[in-house]
Amino acid sequence: MTSFNLAFCQSLQAINEAKPQKHGPLHRYLGPPAPPACTKAIRRSIEWGAATAAYQIEGGWDEGGKSNSVWDVWSQTPGKVAQNQTGNTACDHYHRWREDVQLMQQLGLKHYRLSFSWPRIVPGGVAGSPANPEGLHFYKQLLSSLRAAGIAPLVTLFHWDLPQVLQDDHGGLLGEQFPEHFAYYADVVFRELGRFVSHWVTLNEPLVTCSMGYQSGVFPSGLQLGTQAFLQCGHNQLKAHAKAVQLYRQRYSRRQKGHLSLAVPGWWMIPYDASSKANRAAAARAMEFRWGWMFDPVITGDYPTAMRAHFDSQLPAFSAEGQQLLKGSVDFLGVNIYTARYVADGSENGMPWVESLTNASGAALCPDSDELCLAVAQDGVNVQGFYAWSLMDNFEWADGYRPRFGLVYVDYENGLRRLPKRSAAWMARHFFLKRQLGQW
Ligand code: GAL
Repeated sequence: MTSFNLAFCQSLQAINEAKPQKHGPLHRYLGPPAPPACTKAIRRSIEWGAATAAYQIEGGWDEGGKSNSVWDVWSQTPGKVAQNQTGNTACDHYHRWREDVQLMQQLGLKHYRLSFSWPRIVPGGVAGSPANPEGLHFYKQLLSSLRAAGIAPLVTLFHWDLPQVLQDDHGGLLGEQFPEHFAYYADVVFRELGRFVSHWVTLNEPLVTCSMGYQSGVFPSGLQLGTQAFLQCGHNQLKAHAKAVQLYRQRYSRRQKGHLSLAVPGWWMIPYDASSKANRAAAARAMEFRWGWMFDPVITGDYPTAMRAHFDSQLPAFSAEGQQLLKGSVDFLGVNIYTARYVADGSENGMPWVESLTNASGAALCPDSDELCLAVAQDGVNVQGFYAWSLMDNFEWADGYRPRFGLVYVDYENGLRRLPKRSAAWMARHFFLKRQLGQW
C-alpha cells in the first residue's frame, strides 16, 4: 500500500448557519485571511473539495425506476425525523444537477464527493437483479458534466440509503449475504460508471449505520439490538468492502486506475489527565476501538488486539481467506473528523471501558484548516484531500432540514434557490484558489 490519508471535514458550521443577506457583493467578500499555517504551497498541495450524499440532496425518490431506500420508508413514517420531514424532494438535485454543477464551477471547486443511490442503480437490491438504465443514465450525465467542468468526483458507493427490499427480506446489514449483494451493486457501478471516477469510498461510516441503525434504533432499521448485532453489522460491512475492492482490482483497476477506501468517523482521543497512566491507556484503547475497528482489518487483515481481548467470542472471526482479502484493501484512508474527546479510565458510557468527556471548549467541530495545515507542515502528515461537509444545505437525517452545514444556502421556502454563503466565498478564495468569484 502506498500513501493514504484523506480528510473529509465536517466543519465550517460556525460561519455557515445564517441565511445570506445579500448576494450581489459576495464576490467582493474578502473575509478573514487564510489561516497562517496554510501557506500557499500547502494549500496547493491538497485537493480541496466539498461533499454531499445522494439521499441528502437528490430527491426524486420515486422517479426514474428507483425503488425505495430504507431512508425513504423511514422518513415517510411519522415520528422518525424531526418535524416529519422527508428526503422526498430534498434539494431536488435529481432535477437541478446542471445548475449545481454550474454552481460548483462558479465556486472554483475542482473536487466533489458525492454518493450514488443503490436503489436507483439496482432497484431489486440483491445480487443478480437487473441494473436500472434510467438510474445509470442519471449518473452518467452528471459525471460527464462534472468532467466537462473540470471537477473530479470522489464517489461513495453506499451512504446509508440501502434498498428497502434488502432490509425487509434479507436482514439488511445483518444479512449473511450482504457482502454478495453489495459486491454485485459495486460491480455494476464500476462497469458502467467507473471510467469517470478515480477515487472511491465503498462505505460511509459503518460505525454510524451499525450503532444508530441497529443499536439505538434512531436510524433505519430502527432495531434496538445488542453488542453482538452491532459487531456483526460492522463485520458484514468489512467483508462487503473487501469483496468490492477485490473485484475492482481484478477487473477494473488496470484500465480505470482508481483508488479505493472506506470512510470512518471518529474523534481524536485525548487522555483526560495526561499524567495518569490509566487515562493514557484508556485513550489509546478508545482510539483502537473507534478507528481500529475498521482501519486495522483493512490494513492488517484483522481486528485490533484490544477489541479481541475485550469482546472475546462476541467478535466475529474472519476466515484466513477473508483476512487476506481485507489486508491492504485501501489505497488511502477516508477520515471523517468531527472533534476530540477527553478520555478517562473507568466508568461506562457507550463504549464500555471509557468515559469520554466533551472537550472543555465545547465546539471544536473539526481540526480547522489551520490545524490541518499544521499537521502537514509540522508532522508531515500526508493529507491528499479535504472535503468540507457540505456543498449545500441538505437533509440531515433524523434532524431533517434544520442543521445548515452547506457552503451554499438552500432556500427551502422559496423554490430551493441556491445562495452561496460567505463561507463559500472564503473557501473559494483561499482553498479552491479561485481568482475571480464572478457575480453571485
Ligand atoms: C456525517 C454523515 C453526513 C452528514 C454529516 C453531518 O456523519 O456522513 O451524511 O450527516 O455527518 O456532519
